[in-house]
Amino acid sequence: MKYETVAIHVEKLVKRYRNGVQALDGLSLTVNKGEIFSLLGQNGAGKSTLINVLTTYLRPTSGSVIIFGKDACHEATEIRTLISWVAQRTSIDTRLSLTENMMFQSNLYKVPKEEAKKRMEALIFCFGLEQYLKYPVSSYSGGIKRRLDIALYMMSNPKVLFLDEPTIGMDVQSRMAMWDMIRKIREDFGTTVFLTTHYLEEADRLSDTICIIKNGKEVIQGIPHDLREYLQQNKLKISFGSKEEAKSCFGRLKNVISLKEADLYNDKIITDSKNSYADLERVNRWLLDNGISFLGIEMIQPTLEDVFIRLTRENEREVCQ
Ligand SMILES: Nc1ncnc2c1ncn2[C@@H]1O[C@H](COP(=O)(O)OP(=O)(O)OP(=O)(O)O)[C@@H](O)[C@H]1O
Ligand SMILES: [Mg+2]
Repeated sequence: MKYETVAIHVEKLVKRYRNGVQALDGLSLTVNKGEIFSLLGQNGAGKSTLINVLTTYLRPTSGSVIIFGKDACHEATEIRTLISWVAQRTSIDTRLSLTENMMFQSNLYKVPKEEAKKRMEALIFCFGLEQYLKYPVSSYSGGIKRRLDIALYMMSNPKVLFLDEPTIGMDVQSRMAMWDMIRKIREDFGTTVFLTTHYLEEADRLSDTICIIKNGKEVIQGIPHDLREYLQQNKLKISFGSKEEAKSCFGRLKNVISLKEADLYNDKIITDSKNSYADLERVNRWLLDNGISFLGIEMIQPTLEDVFIRLTRENEREVCQ
């Protein structure tokens, strides 16, 4: 383990709540310094529990968490000075302006006034927030408030910024503005960003590393490109002019390649293919030989969503191990 490049190292982490629920079940993961790391998982997978343990809000039952060389169990106070945690509900004081909020925050962290002012100006400039300085925070929309909230948490100059579902419920424009902001946090300030999300597209486009967790355990961790390649299985897609045409072909095509009932989607047949190009050729020839009219036939690559569904599907634990 090269500690000089590691921001967070979690090993065999277990968290059992008092009611007996084991929310984390031997989870291990590594976050590198200066990267955007996304944690993906279904409801109840253990994402919030993990963030609560990493931010030292909860004590683990067993296992270890090291953040910038500090142990979360024995050096929780030190860790708190290194991190910022932006929870889902904004905590910025909506009666005050952004600058008032920022100066107040720096006071809490005992940052000298001159230094705080400089930092505040740098943050406002970097994130393009000048237009939001005049009015109290309450006058802005939810998406903007969240960005102002994050700017506020950057005042303490954290080494790691934790974001719980930063773009939940946002429209496309606000989501893209948030992505820009998160990229700038990494690029201009070198901050490591650890976020949770339900949006696969967000994890795919924004992160350097993605970790998918299920039942309190990691199932896969890697760069988005490698995760998409994980299935090593393309899909064969045949499009028809109508639902009826697809349905009638589906019945006969079952004799040519193996198909599941779920492979029929409206006016398309989409099926997993282990031997993609041979299948494509075979089906194409069969369609032509039998005079079946169709609009197109092509191979499509699995998306991150396909990987996520495959890895988190119930009763398929064997593929995860
Ligand atoms: N304070 C608690 N006491 C007891 N059980 C809890 C507590 N908090 C969470 N759990 C349970 O632990 C498991 C993991 O929950 P957690 O909130 O960490 O999941 P999550 O991945 O954040 O889910 P979501 O996507 O819904 O936010 C769930 O079974 C949940 O019911
Ligand atoms: Mg949660």
